[in-house]
Parts: sequence; structure tokens; C-alpha cells
Amino acid sequence: MAGLDGRRVVVVGASAGIGRAVAVRAVRAGARTVLAARRKAALEEAVAEAGGGTAVAVDVVDPEGVERLAREARAALGGPVDLVVHTVGYAAMRFLADCDGDTWRSMLDVNVVGLNQTLRAIVPAMAPGGIVAALSSETAAAPRTGLVAYAASKAAVEASLKGWRVEHPEVRFCCAVVGATQPTEFGAGFDAEVLGPALDSWARHGLLQEEFMQTGDVADVLLDVLGTALAHPGVGVETLVLRSPSPVIGTDVPARDHAARAVEAAGG
Ligand SMILES: NC(=O)c1ccc[n+]([C@@H]2O[C@H](COP(=O)([O-])OP(=O)(O)OC[C@H]3O[C@@H](n4cnc5c(N)ncnc54)[C@H](OP(=O)(O)O)[C@@H]3O)[C@@H](O)[C@H]2O)c1
Repeated sequence: MAGLDGRRVVVVGASAGIGRAVAVRAVRAGARTVLAARRKAALEEAVAEAGGGTAVAVDVVDPEGVERLAREARAALGGPVDLVVHTVGYAAMRFLADCDGDTWRSMLDVNVVGLNQTLRAIVPAMAPGGIVAALSSETAAAPRTGLVAYAASKAAVEASLKGWRVEHPEVRFCCAVVGATQPTEFGAGFDAEVLGPALDSWARHGLLQEEFMQTGDVADVLLDVLGTALAHPGVGVETLVLRSPSPVIGTDVPARDHAARAVEAAGG
């Protein structure tokens, strides 16, 4: 993994999925790494798997929690942070007609407020030329039925990162737009009764591909690019789009096949 040896790295969302894979790889590449998420036990497992790192339990919707994360990260890493990879993301799968205010707020709180208050706490603890990479989704630009509120929250993530770039030019902000990736816990709570018709709609609109990307592959590419960029502070990496190169699925594949595959991929 290029350029990470001796770097100070914080991965937020490190207890599962893409964040966990990123954190394990960062530790193994020689980075001093803080692993943050809500579940301490899952973080400790990732630390054990990686063979190092410091677990910090935090809920990004808790403003005091993210301030503590910034303090503990700086203390554990022994200096300013070079790289923050923020992978936290949450989606409830609901049609818009079923999205009440609480549903909207749950996604906006975790995905948008959580990201922004984490950055508010941690950016002052970063080294000049450091990089913040936050994960968005391909659905932000092309909202899929059942995931429109989530898509709107990710569009707000993307706008937020552009704003951070303007207000804090001393740090580089990267928006990593990700396509369907497995295995992760992301879809574990999806309602199969919504997912079936939703997948039908995605296929009709050309929004479903034949293959998922693999979590470890996504983590490898992300960290290789970001690690290389750390050594080149004059180059901003503003947007990365990581999508499967596989073909878009046609409309002739029954929805139940997509649903079975997606539920299986989500570990459900
Ligand atoms: N997987 C995909 O197909 C896909 C596609 C496009 C975009 N993305 C985006 O990629 C990112 C990573 O997705 P993933 O599939 O790896 O998801 P995942 O497996 O569900 O992992 C999400 C991580 O975020 C943490 N998290 C959730 N809520 C949190 C909170 N309030 N405070 C702190 N940590 C919190 C979770 O840990 P705890 O539960 O322990 O807190 C977990 O470590 C997300 O932003 C997602 O929107 C994923």
C-alpha cells in the first residue's frame, strides 16, 4: 500500500464494511491508525485482525463524542492527522410516500450532520496538506426508488465537501463516490418487500449492474490513491468514482433474482 508507512490515519466507520477493510489495510501498511465507530467490540476485533491500531467508540451524531474522538486521535497518534477516511453511512430503504420526518432526519443526522460535525472537530487536528476522504454514493447523482432520501443525504455530503474545500484550503477534501459493493452491512436492514420492487425499478432505469465490487478491492484502490496523494501535497484528489465496470442489467431479468442476490450480498 503506497505512502502510508508512518502516516497518522483516522478511519471513521471502521467497525464494518469498507471502513473496516480500509482500517485493517492502513495498519498493515504501517500507518498509525485510529479506528472509530459506535461498536467498541467490533472495533477491537478489527484491531486484532489488523495487528494494531487504537479503537475509539463514538457516535458521529453526538457532538461531544466527535470532540473526544479528535482529542483521543491526536493523543493516540502522537501528532497531527494526515488522513481521515470517513465511511459512515446509513440508509433506510423506503418509498418516498413512506418517508416521514423521522425517517428523513435519521439519514440526514448520520450522513450529513454526523460528517460535518466530525470534520468540525477533526480538521483543526490535521496536518497541512492532509486529506479528508468521505464516501458518497452513485445514487446521489441518480436517485433510485426506495433510496431517494439516502440519495438526497449523499448529495448534501457532496455539497458539504465542496464547501469544506473552499473554507479550508489547508486540507484536501476528496469525495469518493462508490457503487454497489459487497460484503458489507449496508443493506442488512433493508426490507425485502421494498427491495424487490425497487430492484425492478432500478433495472428499468438502467441503474443496476451485473456485478458488485468487492469490499477489499475498493479499500485497496482507495488507499493506494490516497496514500500516493499524501506524498504529493500539490495535487488535489477532489472526486474519485469507484464503480463496477460490469454491464448494466437489462430489463428482462426477473426482479426476484436481483432481490435474492442483493439480500444475500447484504448478509440477509
Ligand atoms: N456498500 C455499498 O454498496 C455502498 C454503495 C454506495 C455507497 N456506499 C457508502 O459507503 C460507505 C460505507 O458503506 P458500507 O457498505 O461499508 O457500510 P457498513 O458496512 O454498513 O458500515 C458502515 C460503518 O459506519 C458505522 N456507523 C454507522 N452509523 C454510525 C454512527 N452514527 N456513528 C459512528 N459510526 C457509524 C458503522 O459502525 P457502527 O454500527 O459500529 O457504528 C460501520 O462501521 C457508506 O457511506 C455508504 O453510504 C456503500
